[in-house]
Amino acid sequence: MSGEGPRAPGTVQSGGPAGTTTAERVLAPFDVQRVRRDFPILRRLVRGRPLTYLDNAATTQKPQAVLDALTGYYTGYNANIHRGVHLLSELATAAHDAAREKARAFLNAPSTREIVFTRNSTEGINLVAHAFGRLRLREGDEVVISAMEHHSNIVPWQLVCAERGARLRVAPIDDAGELILEELEALIGPRTRIVAVTHMSNALGTINPIEAIVELAHAGGVPVLVDGSQAAYHMPVDVQALGADFYVATGHKLYGPTGIGILYGRASLLEDMPPFLGGGDMIRSVTFEGSTWNDLPHKFEAGTPDIGGAIALGAALDYISGIGLAAIARHEADLLAYATDRVAALPGVRIVGTARRKASILSFVMEGAHPHDIGTIVDQEGVAIRTGHHCAQPVMERFGVPATARASFAMYNTREDVDALVAALQRVQAVLG
Ligand SMILES: Cc1ncc(COP(=O)(O)O)c(C=O)c1O
Repeated sequence: MSGEGPRAPGTVQSGGPAGTTTAERVLAPFDVQRVRRDFPILRRLVRGRPLTYLDNAATTQKPQAVLDALTGYYTGYNANIHRGVHLLSELATAAHDAAREKARAFLNAPSTREIVFTRNSTEGINLVAHAFGRLRLREGDEVVISAMEHHSNIVPWQLVCAERGARLRVAPIDDAGELILEELEALIGPRTRIVAVTHMSNALGTINPIEAIVELAHAGGVPVLVDGSQAAYHMPVDVQALGADFYVATGHKLYGPTGIGILYGRASLLEDMPPFLGGGDMIRSVTFEGSTWNDLPHKFEAGTPDIGGAIALGAALDYISGIGLAAIARHEADLLAYATDRVAALPGVRIVGTARRKASILSFVMEGAHPHDIGTIVDQEGVAIRTGHHCAQPVMERFGVPATARASFAMYNTREDVDALVAALQRVQAVLG
């Protein structure tokens, strides 16, 4: 660090592939090897072999720019925000504010007042379920979700429905793993208070037609929460173009740290909602007779936030934007197509989730091999995939399987990674066959 003291907030690490300017990154073709060099963990060995990391839907690896932003905060200007007049607190506050602006820009939200930092997507959905639920849900009201939701977009609604005497309605999916829109439309009625759907399924890869869903819901005056946990790191997201009233994303899948998430909420809705958690920072005044609430978004951010996490998430968003989500999506589409062809060609393999619009996720089952055994054997080859129900047990039930094996791709994966997966799966068949 120079003698000038900590790096100015807002310039706390941004980046794309090392050594490029923004203009170069925008114009250059996608160079996966260059991207890979930004991720130190990809240089390590696993069980004596190069790491083939295909568990990105669970969490992604972190580029050096994110690691630097995190240590830069803790080594350079660690202090609590909003409370100090001293320099470090001013720097930390400015960097935290800058991170919120980066999150706003990333989702194209109209205002930073509509960007709430949470711990993760799960907390964002719980915040909306509980605060919106207290405001709007009465006995006999209904919440509509889809049959492909992650448990995080099921259980919070179950909890709040039980509390308020409301009912959870579930729009079904077809054999390809696509939402049946007419069925969703039929479920939206006079008692529907909110529709909550995923933008992209973590178990199937399906991308939902959010604009169409929003149109159906808004026609009945019903707001829509979109779970963007998977979508936000695979495709450009514009909450205004989507028409979403709430949109959640989770930092650790966005190449950022764990413990930080983003909730976008339409200001008019957030204004009316009561707080979710109470404590410091979310109040304007406190007496023993009662308290009043701080302005948005602080009303929903009780207590000391994950300051370093938010700053590092800001660096992650800069990194993603520097590469460009459109370029990332094209690269990952190529990987998914290649992987689908190669894995489907293996004897006894069935792909689970064959939607026309899908991204970056390949779920499959293999005759004579339990998914858990598949995961264990491919791990011996240095290949990391996920096996199980993927926190989407109703999806497994819909497809009549207890579990699947899931390979999921991120910007740093290559066709060689897919080849390593296929070779490891052939090994599974040799061992178990
Ligand atoms: C679609 C979807 N929703 C919600 C979540 C929950 O994310 P988090 O555990 O970061 O809150 C995940 C994580 O796997 C997910 O894939």
